[in-house]
Amino acid sequence: MFVDTHCHLDDPAFEDDLDAVITRARARGIAWILDPGTTVKTSERAIALAHQYDSLYAAVGIHPEDCADASTEDLDQIEALTRDEKVLAIGEIGLDYHWAENPPKAQQKQIFARQLEMAGALGLPVIVHDRDAHGDSVDLVKSDAFNPDTGGVFHCYSGSVETARILLDLGFYLGFDGPITFKNNKKSPEVVAFAPLDRLLIETDSPYMAPVPHRGKRNEPAFVADVAAKMAEIKHLPVEKIAEATTANAERLFHLKEGRS
Ligand code: NI
Repeated sequence: MFVDTHCHLDDPAFEDDLDAVITRARARGIAWILDPGTTVKTSERAIALAHQYDSLYAAVGIHPEDCADASTEDLDQIEALTRDEKVLAIGEIGLDYHWAENPPKAQQKQIFARQLEMAGALGLPVIVHDRDAHGDSVDLVKSDAFNPDTGGVFHCYSGSVETARILLDLGFYLGFDGPITFKNNKKSPEVVAFAPLDRLLIETDSPYMAPVPHRGKRNEPAFVADVAAKMAEIKHLPVEKIAEATTANAERLFHLKEGRS
């Protein structure tokens, strides 16, 4: 049994065949799936889908690449959406300095900090997107904005072992996706090898970044089993062990078994 803790089934890429995608995931042993929104709109769509499929859950948040015009009203709407019973976390939120045309760093930091504070106040874990912004991301989760009691995951982790150590000390989980299966990626497998088994999560980030042997195609939750297989190879463990540990980790972080207050 696997869990895909990060995929965007709200994406138009799944408009025509979502039933088949969910069926294939179930057939490959994916027990449940978490779909984080990236805007108010996609957060609402993720929630609507979560009510259509038992195995689907949602997170709500404003993604750094979509935060240019984010207003206080938008943040209030995100907060209101957390009242839905299928919302497990605030995300995806964070910083993305990869593209020059991304929103200004100051704006990204402000919206990220406000959503970290919101998560802390609501007692919800966070799903963090950090692309080429490791220093500022670490600074913010080390600041008062983040409440370590709520916990969180650095999704599609792409930083160094040194940064991973800091995040693990803060109680974060590290999520890994298709890129750990890519031949030219030396860095992420090192972090997978280093990180303790009880802090790892497996994700797809569908429809993007399909793992080998599906690289270049549309990604989907069923392929999280291929991410697990690669993780098993790196950790020198049977894939069943990876499945068991990452599922338990996901249930612990997102309080799936305890229910929501
Ligand atoms: Ni994502």
